[in-house]
Amino acid sequence: MVQVSVAGASGNLGSRIVASLQARGASVVAIVRTGKTSSTTFPPTVKVVEADYASVSSLRDAVRGSQVVVSALQGLRPVIVETQSRLLQAAAEESVPRFIPSDYAIDFTTFGPGRNRNLDLRREFWQQIDEQPNIRATSILPGAFAFTLTMPWFVDVAQAKVLYWGDNADVAIDYSSLDNVADYTALAALDDDAPRYLRVASTTQTPTTLAVALSRLTGRQFTTKREGSLDEIRGKIATLLQQDPSPGDNLRPYWQALQFAENISSGFGGTKTHDNDRYGSQVKWATIEEVLAPFKSAFLARAG
Ligand SMILES: NC(=O)c1ccc[n+]([C@@H]2O[C@H](COP(=O)([O-])OP(=O)(O)OC[C@H]3O[C@@H](n4cnc5c(N)ncnc54)[C@H](OP(=O)(O)O)[C@@H]3O)[C@@H](O)[C@H]2O)c1
Repeated sequence: MVQVSVAGASGNLGSRIVASLQARGASVVAIVRTGKTSSTTFPPTVKVVEADYASVSSLRDAVRGSQVVVSALQGLRPVIVETQSRLLQAAAEESVPRFIPSDYAIDFTTFGPGRNRNLDLRREFWQQIDEQPNIRATSILPGAFAFTLTMPWFVDVAQAKVLYWGDNADVAIDYSSLDNVADYTALAALDDDAPRYLRVASTTQTPTTLAVALSRLTGRQFTTKREGSLDEIRGKIATLLQQDPSPGDNLRPYWQALQFAENISSGFGGTKTHDNDRYGSQVKWATIEEVLAPFKSAFLARAG
């Protein structure tokens, strides 16, 4: 039986990855933080290991005997670069041959550094992972998670507007449901031949098609709204960044959301080819209706 250690197992995505791995017959080690109480509960067959993420030796205990380490950690430099580095070192010292880093983003192999702080941190970690001679990494790139659509900088619910920057309301954007990302990640973890990058999407939409889908979902007339030019959003990001006294400390400042909006509006949010079919019918890809359905009340609630 394949053993998989999951870091960030108590998180939104991590807990789903644990459940999906277990459903597929893997032996799962759920790594949780020492001394941190969490509301996440695991089935009795999941081995829950408390680890001190500041200690490589503690992490070695948590990954020992596994064939894959899956990271679903969330954070900034201290987590994405520093904690994942210790996890990687622990995996290397325990001869774990495979590692799935906590990437789960738009396909940022298609553009260079300097355009998105959160993705730059992941790139920085890639330098380390790709230098490890005995560990094969697989990054899962599923586009935007569906719930990001409820963020006010992507959809203005009160005005029933899907927002975009630049001159094109028909730029493709990949969206994935959390369950699809979790299932695909679990399958990739169990797939010894998984390549360095796997690009997937539950659905690919444009601001125009999204407005149509939201109209169908809510019965309200959603349309697109151009927020400004690409130069304007880039200028806005630069100004906000200059004004931020500690740009490395806050996970979701407004300028970081705008960086994603800039990346997407520039055409980096939709990949040309997807690896959706790699596991056949084992992933039931959600349709746009299914992707949006859980958030119906959010699209209606702020309508007044
Ligand atoms: N593409 C998208 O649109 C999108 C959207 C959201 C998230 N994501 C990505 O998906 C991944 C997982 O995110 P999520 O939403 O599942 O995050 P989450 O629910 O906040 O879970 C994060 C996990 O990381 C653990 N963690 C946080 N800080 C830690 C630290 N300093 N040391 C050890 N463990 C720590 C948490 O442990 P505790 O439970 O103990 O706090 C939790 O298990 C991240 O890479 C995130 O960027 C992508």
